[in-house]
Order: sequence, then C-alpha cells, then structure tokens
Amino acid sequence: MDIMPVIIDGKKVASDIRGELKEKVDWLRSLNVRVPGLVTIMVGDNPASQSYVKSKAKACSEIGMLSKIEMLPADTSEESLLSLIDSYNASPDYDGILVQLPLPKHINEEKVIEKISAQKDVDGFHPVSMGNLVIGKNTFYPCTPNGIVELIKRYKIETSGKHVVVVGRSNIVGKPVANMLLQKKEGANAVVTICHSAAADLSAYTKTADILIAAIGKANFITAGMVKDGAAVIDVGINRVEDASSQKGYKIVGDVDYENVFSKTSFITPVPGGVGPMTIAMLLQNTFLAYIKITKQKLA
Ligand code: GUN
Repeated sequence: MDIMPVIIDGKKVASDIRGELKEKVDWLRSLNVRVPGLVTIMVGDNPASQSYVKSKAKACSEIGMLSKIEMLPADTSEESLLSLIDSYNASPDYDGILVQLPLPKHINEEKVIEKISAQKDVDGFHPVSMGNLVIGKNTFYPCTPNGIVELIKRYKIETSGKHVVVVGRSNIVGKPVANMLLQKKEGANAVVTICHSAAADLSAYTKTADILIAAIGKANFITAGMVKDGAAVIDVGINRVEDASSQKGYKIVGDVDYENVFSKTSFITPVPGGVGPMTIAMLLQNTFLAYIKITKQKLA
C-alpha cells in the first residue's frame, strides 16, 4: 500500500466511551438515585484472570458505578458458586454479574453461565443473549465482539457486502462477532467466513478478507503473506511472550505479526491499545444498559 494505514486507537475510543458513561452516572448521583452496580466473580488464582478482574472492577468504580469483586478459592464447589450467583440475581444493588472464565475444571462452565439471570448477563454469554444475537434481536452483546464492531463503526470501515474473515471460533469472540457482522443492519451486512485450526490452508481464506479478525490466541500467527493488500486487520490476541528487556520478563503481543503486516493494511489495531481496552468499556456500557432495563421494568 502506498497510503499509510490508519492505526485504530482503541485506548482513545474506550476512554471517550467511559467519559460518556461517567457523565450519565454523575447525573444519576446528582439526582440521589441508585447507580448501576457490577459484581465480578473469580474462582482460583490465575494471574492473568486476576489482573483482568481487577481492571474491570477499577474501571467500574472510576466512572462512579458500584463495584464489587468476589475472589473465591480454587476449591470452591460448583454448588456454592451457583448459590452465590443466585444471591446476586436477587440483589437490588447489582445490575450486572460477571463470572471470569475459565473456571477450574471441577466446575461446569455452561451451568454457571446459565445460572446468571439473562437480565444481568453483562458478558452476553447466556444462551438467551447468544440466541437473541444470532436472530438479530437487541440484547447484551459480548464485550469483545461489541468492542470490535464499535471500532469498525467509529472508524467508518465499510462492512456492507465486504468479506469479513474471522479466524477463531470461540463462544467469546469468533462466533458472536461473525454473527453480529452478518446481520442485515447498518454497520454490518457483511459476507462472513469463520475459519479455524482444522482448515487445510488457512491463508487461502485469510487472503480474501477485506476485514480480517484474528482471534486465535497464538502470538504473531497472522503473517504478511496471509493478508490481502489494503485489508483492515483487527487483532484480538493478548499473548504473553518472554522479553528479557522488560522488567516483568514478558511483553504482550497480538495474534498478528504487526511489524510485517502493518504496511499491507488500510486499518490496523495495535496490541496493546487496540481491541483490549474496548472490552472493558463495553462491559461498563452493558452494565449501564442492564441498569436502565431493570429500572424501566420497576417503573412499568
Ligand atoms: N475470559 C476471557 N475473556 C472474558 C470475558 O470477556 N468475560 C469473562 N467473564 N471471562 C473472560
């Protein structure tokens, strides 16, 4: 490409969204009414999960929402986790319930997700939310896919009739983002391909993408040869790789070999600072949305 790619500034967009939400919460406080609340539940001591959970709770309190973390030991029984969720389902103070994944092996993840009231499903993982998403009904959209779609909209990247290729088929990112971009709606209406590790020749698919979404979970997996000239590249990866020059001993890289792919693209998300910060902003937005829905229902 002769034209310089646009680097998508997810950090800035996320900060704008948090600012807009803070104004709304400030307004509620000025009226002396209840503010939205989010409870984040985590089981075990996975360091990456702990760091995500703390960031989520911090972002929540920074905009003035009520925020609570439930850190449970790794040997917590499924039964006690389910009953804790039930107590928050009934709580008038918390509008959103998030259980950080993955959970320890002895706990059935599906059961846990289904236990969360669909009204408080700010992660958008409940089968009711996911079903509504697939049929194009307004619902809680999962945070990372919603963040991706928001970035595409704000940067005015054309999607209608374009070929979106999603690499990765997870329930958290690949499947929902593909379905969101497939809808016959403004900011969507794309022709969508989902591919994954079983593809014999992955690059045969990725090379035809106008918009390439990489959600694989492998550092620098998407190389320059896999990308069409002028494509928009959205990198969802957050991978820790060893880095002796860093104090922590590691650095975070995406699923895209950014350095080499960069010059081929029209738009590209950096890691960090691209999709990552959007996930939390969308979580706050969903919590606000849950609050509005619950409050409206009480008034009706
Ligand atoms: N684990 C990785 N991403 C997520 C997420 O968006 N929500 C939850 N609950 N767990 C995750």
